[in-house]
Amino acid sequence: MKTALYPGSFDPITNGHLDIIKRAAVLFDKVYVAVLDNDQKDPLFSTQERVDLISTSIEGLDNVSCSSFKGLLVNYAEACQVNAIIRGLRAVTDFDWEFQLALTNRQLNPKLETVFLMTDAKYSYLSSSLVRQIAAFDGDIGALVPPIVQEALKNRG
Ligand code: PNS
Repeated sequence: MKTALYPGSFDPITNGHLDIIKRAAVLFDKVYVAVLDNDQKDPLFSTQERVDLISTSIEGLDNVSCSSFKGLLVNYAEACQVNAIIRGLRAVTDFDWEFQLALTNRQLNPKLETVFLMTDAKYSYLSSSLVRQIAAFDGDIGALVPPIVQEALKNRG
């Protein structure tokens, strides 16, 4: 059985993330989406809210589930017994950081592979921080995030 972990901050999940999840769900038998529970960051949505938004957004994808984790990604990957880490790549500006992350994780656990999926071109500019900014100024985010996230951002005001 081929399994993968898709980790991230997901503050909040966007249609770009969802596209990566759907494509990973075709490649792997089971995909675990994992929200980093990071005390050092000051996220817009709490960890539980982010997990709930993702869980609603992945309804209907039978081989995908969502949870949160604290600490090192490699430790959570081991606990989930996954074969691979999934990361999405947008423009080349993502590459330096992703390369560093992948090599660090390989150093910590050589058996864990990182698999990169290229973003769909229509989401190449999209990020959670841009979505938060647009929403903060009442801009239209309907095409950028799942409906449940649009609602949550509207309520956050
Ligand atoms: O969505 P993001 O913010 O790009 O995700 C980054 C994430 C959560 C994948 C990364 O920060 C992470 O894995 N953090 C857990 C701590 C860890 O394992 N650090 C060592 C590798 S840099």
